[in-house]
Amino acid sequence: MTNPQDRVVIFDTTLRDGEQSPGATMTHDEKLEIAQMLDEMGVDIIEAGFPIASEGDFEAVRDIAEVTKHSVICGLARANFKDIDRCWEAVRHSERPRIHTFIGTSPLHRAIPNLTMDEMADKIHETVTHARNLCDNVQWSPMDATRTEHDYLCRVVEIAIKAGATTINIPDTVGYTAPRESADLIAMLLERVPGADEIIFATHCHNDLGMATANALAAVDAGARQVECTINGLGERAGNTALEEVVMALKVRNDIMPYTTGIDTTKIMNISRRVADVSGFQVQFNKAVVGKNAFAHESGIHQDGMLKNPQNFEIMRPEDVGLSATNLVMGKHSGRAALRAKLHDLGYDLGDNQLKDVFVRFKELADRKKEVYDDDLIALMRDAGSEVDDTLKVQFLRVICGTQAPQSADLVMSVEGVDHMVSASGDGPVDATFNAVKEIFPHNAHLKLYQVHAVTRGTDAQATVTVRLEEDGRIVTGQSADTDTVVASAKAYVAALNRLIVRRQKTGTDKKEIDYRDVVQ
Ligand code: KIV
Ligand code: ZN
Repeated sequence: MTNPQDRVVIFDTTLRDGEQSPGATMTHDEKLEIAQMLDEMGVDIIEAGFPIASEGDFEAVRDIAEVTKHSVICGLARANFKDIDRCWEAVRHSERPRIHTFIGTSPLHRAIPNLTMDEMADKIHETVTHARNLCDNVQWSPMDATRTEHDYLCRVVEIAIKAGATTINIPDTVGYTAPRESADLIAMLLERVPGADEIIFATHCHNDLGMATANALAAVDAGARQVECTINGLGERAGNTALEEVVMALKVRNDIMPYTTGIDTTKIMNISRRVADVSGFQVQFNKAVVGKNAFAHESGIHQDGMLKNPQNFEIMRPEDVGLSATNLVMGKHSGRAALRAKLHDLGYDLGDNQLKDVFVRFKELADRKKEVYDDDLIALMRDAGSEVDDTLKVQFLRVICGTQAPQSADLVMSVEGVDHMVSASGDGPVDATFNAVKEIFPHNAHLKLYQVHAVTRGTDAQATVTVRLEEDGRIVTGQSADTDTVVASAKAYVAALNRLIVRRQKTGTDKKEIDYRDVVQ
């Protein structure tokens, strides 16, 4: 039986379930970078992608399998031989490969491929056996398990175990369950399914009712020993259980949940910021553990209490999640060495040439802003990273705005190195600027999201702008920061268009077109 002192295995699916959220698509290099960070922070299993979904997904999983050193590398496959073979092709390059295959078992999901209970049971037997013949580490998931009849769930879990599955994942695919029910389901399976004590039960919770982390922890208490999660809770709809929440909950409340993980929690803040950068999904200010306000205290009573003893108002220390205890504010007198040290603290290690470029940008910013905070530097790094090899570049922008409409924008933008100049008008300065961009680079992409955040306080704060575009089912996101909101908007729009150009050039099926419910053999 399960030992309550057991270690909980952390399975991160940021690069698969997280990347599935519309607009969160990451480039190949970004996926590799995040995978290496996950590997270094001690994640036990990385679900690196869905290899059959596209050539790009396949290559990312294969390359992640090659470069990572410690983690088990897992790929997702539907319940058919073609998916499973393709998955194996990609993960077999890891020293520790895993195949994860799944099928929807609830009445609603069984109706999609129109399989009877018996036909589906046979398919599970065949596909798990096939996966196990290729790889000795096989995970099987009954999708929508929390809405599957208990008798049928027990039956198919038993079949998967007998066919060789070493981990059985119990997904709450639609975020429907509640903590007590989540625990009861794991306890029921452990009690009723023959062979259940020979394998690991995993919990995979979506956050549609805001209970994903609570449901995952309840499942652990009942005997699940693998938690599936994503950085920042990234994922479809309301997202998944957040890695940082589970890991910190187990650390802080070890008295009532005596389980350990192998995660180096001091790496949490860096990876959270990096995932926010590359996915374009900003972390909400009041997000547990990694939100900007998670360690901020504004009210007088709280500040006073903090000064007397931080434990009065903090249940974890900022250093535990990798925030530097001392928050040095940089300014125009700061030198290159200080900038290098500060960026190192923030998780960016730059070579000399890169530092030279960033230092120039930093000085420009420091000339415009009295104090440059950590968040300003993070925004600066995000911008620096997004301008490499771009087809479109904003070279010059001047807008005329005010009470007298129409507002207008003069824009010089280069397309593959050649400058083009236009003047355009619009309903407000941002609209005028976007019209100007569209005049130079005509396209049919629809604007799905336009979001502005002030990075720090004060009227000289940088604004981070996020722009999400959709063209023929492809969704891309661009971000930029500047003390001028309209300039940040123009650059974010152009960053999204640059991503779209890259996506257009990619060959192969776009993964968003893959139907998760398709089980055709
Ligand atoms: O939420 C879910 O059911 C999934 C499966 C593919 C495991 O992500
Ligand atoms: Zn999921």
